[in-house]
Formats: sequence, structure tokens, C-alpha cells
Amino acid sequence: MLEELQELKADATSALEKTTNLRELDEWRVQYLGRKGHLTSILRRLGSMSFEERRAVGAAANEVKFELEEALRAREGSLKERELAESLERTSIDVTLPGYPVALGRLHPVTRAIKEICEIFASMGFQVVEGPEVEWDYYNFEALNIPQDHPARDMWDTFWIDTPEDEHQLMLLRTHTSPMQIRLMEQTRPPVRAVVPGKVYRYEATDATHESMFHQIEGLAVDQGITLGDLKGTLFEFARRLFGSDRKVRFRCDYFPFVEPGVEMAIDCWICRGAGCRLCGHSGWIEILGAGMVHPEVLRRVNYDPDIYTGFAFGLGVERIPMLRYGIDDIRLFFGNDLRFLRQF
Ligand code: DAH
Repeated sequence: MLEELQELKADATSALEKTTNLRELDEWRVQYLGRKGHLTSILRRLGSMSFEERRAVGAAANEVKFELEEALRAREGSLKERELAESLERTSIDVTLPGYPVALGRLHPVTRAIKEICEIFASMGFQVVEGPEVEWDYYNFEALNIPQDHPARDMWDTFWIDTPEDEHQLMLLRTHTSPMQIRLMEQTRPPVRAVVPGKVYRYEATDATHESMFHQIEGLAVDQGITLGDLKGTLFEFARRLFGSDRKVRFRCDYFPFVEPGVEMAIDCWICRGAGCRLCGHSGWIEILGAGMVHPEVLRRVNYDPDIYTGFAFGLGVERIPMLRYGIDDIRLFFGNDLRFLRQF
């Protein structure tokens, strides 16, 4: 009997080594350790043995059973590992292959100009705020000292918007960012220092230098004791930071209904340094923005006492900046959505 057990163990062990997968392993388990398996059949015969024999064979059989169970678990572990490795091999990808390139976006040249300009003013203590593109006549014209039927309205070609009959106000797409001067001052008391980037709209035939939608940045500073000197100093510093520290700046009188006095600021042409070239239209100067001291009438509108408070304002067209910088000769390229153009920036 003991011999039979040793044979069984040797048999089972060599059969176990021949199993190559988990299914075969289960068949092996049934054959040697199962309810109708070899070992069970030996154990069943214990009943017919003498006490001495039963003790010896019983102990040996249990030991073989224990050993075979151990061997089964070990085999199961290694077969599982092998199957995993094989399935990985079948489904694995070659991580050394080059991947698909990720399409990288970039900021639109107008967005970049807006960011750059706002950062310059932010570093000088100006807040950055935005306002509505659909505006009331009151903010776009009336409160800016441009009454109905005033010839100054001709300076802006306007998209009017139909408003309900019972609405006694006129609505339009803002023609400039200046209406935010009024909204800002209505909401706060001095000191006010803010820049307002945003889209503006004009009803006009488009050509290389005119679009019906473009961007402006408005600026406003109001406090006690602000003078034309502050306007010049602030805008001069701005021009130097944006266009180079050796820039010269020229201020000349201009007319805008909401400022008094009004000025236009130009910088010396950085290509010809004032001698005259194609970029500056042979004048040596490049006009950059309109500005002025906030008109006392405008201050009165928002209940700021013009005897106590003064301020300056300015407005500049954004598209003009990258056009000058990169030599872009058609404003319509900015919003034509031609990637060949946009990818250059
Ligand atoms: N809003 C003016 C325009 O669209 C530009 C402008 C000029 C704004 C003078 C100002 C200013 O704040 O002071 O033509």
C-alpha cells in the first residue's frame, strides 16, 4: 500500500509537470485529488485494513495529499503567469513606435496684442474690465456728449438694432469701447483706473483697412488732480514698452466730443526712424491712438463734480498694432479663418 502511494505521488508529479494550461491542470486535479480520483480510492480502502496498517497508510496518504495540493498551487501560479505573459504578447503595442502628433493651437495675433497691451496697463495700476457689445444709444453717444442729430455722430457708422415699440431707447452694436467709460463711472467713485478691451462694430464697406467688426482698447483714469501731463506720461511709457524704449512720441490736437482737449498720439516710425518710408506713409510718424482729458459734461453725467475731479481717456484700435508690427496689409485676414495666415503667428 505504501509503495502504491509512492508510485501515485511520482506519477502525479510527472503528470503535473506536463500540464501546459489551466484547463489541463484542472483535469489533473480531478484525476489525482478529486472525489473519484486515485488518492481517494486508496483512502477508501483504509477501512478494510488493520489498525497498525491504517495508521501508517493514513498518515502517508495525508502527507502525499498535502504535498500534491501544494504542488498544484505552485503549478497554478506559474501557469497563470505564463498565460498572462502570452496574452500580453498577443495584444501588446510597440511603445517605441512614433505617436500621432498632437495638433497644437496658438493664440490669435489680436488676442496676443490685447493681452500684451492690457498687461502693460495692468502693471501701471489699471484694472482690466469688459462691457456689453450690444449697447444703448445713451451710453454709446448721448452720455459721451454726442446728442441726437449732432454732426459728430457721423464719425461712427452705426448698426442699429430693432427694439420693441414700448422701449423708448435706441439699441445698437457699440461703435467704440468708450461707452464703458460711462458704465464704469456710474458704478464706482474715483479713483478710477481701467482699460477695456473688446469688439466694436461699424456699418461700412469692408476693404484692406476697414472691417465691420474690429477690436479697441479703451482707457480711463479719473481722480483729483489728474492733468494732461499724466496723460502724456502714461501713454509715453506705454508706447515705449510696446514699441521699444527708444521711441519718440508726438501729441497733436484732435477732436472727440467726450474729451477737452482732445489729442492724437503718434510714435516715430521704427523702420525709417522719422525719415519717411512706406510703413509710415512717408510722414515719419505712425498714429496709434486718440486721447484727451475727460470732458466736464461727461463727468457731470455720472455725478462726478468736474471742479473736484479730472481725468484722461484714450482709445486705440488693436488690429493696427500687429498690422504695423508684422507688415500685414489687409485687416480682413484676421477674421478670414485662413489657417495659412494664422499659423504664422
Ligand atoms: N472712441 C474713439 C473712436 O472710436 C477713440 C477715442 C478717442 C477714445 C479719444 C477715447 C478718447 O477715450 O479719449 O474713434
